Amino acid sequence: MFRFKHPAVESRERIRASFYTLGLALPSKHITVNLAPADVQKEGSHYDLPVALGLMVVMGILSPEDIAAYTALGELGLDGSLASVSGILPAAIHTATSGRSLLCPAVCGSEAAWAGDLHILAAPSLLALVNHFKGTQVLSPAQPKIPDLSLKSTLDLYDIKGQEIAKRALEVTAAGGHNLLMMGPPGAGKSMLASRLPGILPPLEATEALEVTMIHSLNGTLPEEGLIRTRPFRDPHHSASLPAMVGGGVRCKPGEISLAHLGVLFLDELPEFNRPTLEALRQPLETGRAVVARANAHITYPARVQLVAAMNPCRCGYYGDAARECARVPRCAQDYQNKISGPLMDRFDITIDVPEVAASDLVGNPSRERSADVATRVTQARAAQRNRYQGIAPKMGMLTNAVADGDTLYKVATPDSDGQSLLTTAMEKLKLSGRGYHRVLRVARTLADLEGSDIVKRPHIAEALSYRRTPMMKG
Ligand SMILES: Nc1ncnc2c1ncn2[C@@H]1O[C@H](COP(=O)(O)OP(=O)(O)OP(=O)(O)O)[C@@H](O)[C@H]1O
Ligand SMILES: [Mg+2]
Repeated sequence: MFRFKHPAVESRERIRASFYTLGLALPSKHITVNLAPADVQKEGSHYDLPVALGLMVVMGILSPEDIAAYTALGELGLDGSLASVSGILPAAIHTATSGRSLLCPAVCGSEAAWAGDLHILAAPSLLALVNHFKGTQVLSPAQPKIPDLSLKSTLDLYDIKGQEIAKRALEVTAAGGHNLLMMGPPGAGKSMLASRLPGILPPLEATEALEVTMIHSLNGTLPEEGLIRTRPFRDPHHSASLPAMVGGGVRCKPGEISLAHLGVLFLDELPEFNRPTLEALRQPLETGRAVVARANAHITYPARVQLVAAMNPCRCGYYGDAARECARVPRCAQDYQNKISGPLMDRFDITIDVPEVAASDLVGNPSRERSADVATRVTQARAAQRNRYQGIAPKMGMLTNAVADGDTLYKVATPDSDGQSLLTTAMEKLKLSGRGYHRVLRVARTLADLEGSDIVKRPHIAEALSYRRTPMMKG
């Protein structure tokens, strides 16, 4: 009869079975394995290998000196093979900083090797490990695999016909690391546009790649080559739960907002998301960190993302189209749009309408740019931002206009006199809030960067103002 068992009991069975395949029997006396410190809850199958190694020392198969310098982790199969476990990279980095060596399953070797200067023994099985220590079959050190960047997103902006304003907004979003909201009728191409964003974002820098890889390592979802070099693009379904979005759950995994760290979190059909889930994103979006509270500890995961969202203007989808909108207009649109709270709306630097694509655009074959060309401009604009912020505030970790704040923002984005007078007029006419004012400055700074201009001018302010949407009044 099959029965669910306590994880520690399962571990004991796996160790017993794998010893059996080596022709070893566990001593018949009572064995106590103390996983100290006891007040830290142990999760996963990481401890199979260290417990098995400890037993082998007790049984005289290995000497204590053999394993003294190693930090070990790995899951044992019933046949004595070593299977992968999550979180190898952070464990390897910690091992390297403490001056020890790492012992892990062979399948995790290339992931662990990204930790840098560290001796790694990556064994396929318990038997291979024993043979290594006996000197009969020495294991070679693990090597990091170089990820193939040519396998990058195959979705190209070239596929999108017309929608020039939306494509421009997507480029600005990518260039400045801004948050973008697209609103439009069904089939206008919103999801299509968002899915092309990763293709125009620059690859991760070396330190960024390590950060992103560590989070995915904790989640146990790393690609085979180990290191992630392209910016993550996460598009959770709107039925996603709060722990799935911000982190937590039984095993306290990072949430979607952390899995999208330094990349894009795309929320398609935004108003369909559960309200508390959306509100829980506000804090991480502001601070760049997701804090998960547990009974005995707080766990903080990095969560610096670009939020991209898409939505229809109302439930029927055709608000504003006199021929197709439903009978509940405008109430239908007010109810639907008011599902998104003001403070969340306030986090979108760029809000655009994506109307239906014109028939003439769809049928004809107008010249269109490829993602690679747009990506070149985005990379240049990002390099300009990096240089600027590293020169002004190197310790603050600002690398894009989207996170520029306070005095730094005024220092880099105060427009020339023409631009300033337009902004002042707009502030009075549009009743811009303080946050709204800063948002216009940030986007205008990005527009100037895309143009290679040191000064924010009137046309930049005018374009930045056009990426604002007047909120619907509550009915
Ligand atoms: N501008 C366009 N150029 C080429 N194809 C398009 C364009 N817009 C839409 N399409 C086609 O329509 C399909 C639907 O587009 P998409 O799913 O992006 O629409 P949407 O705006 O997200 O709609 P919904 O609001 O229903 O989610 C696409 O897969 C594509 O085949
Ligand atoms: Mg869609």
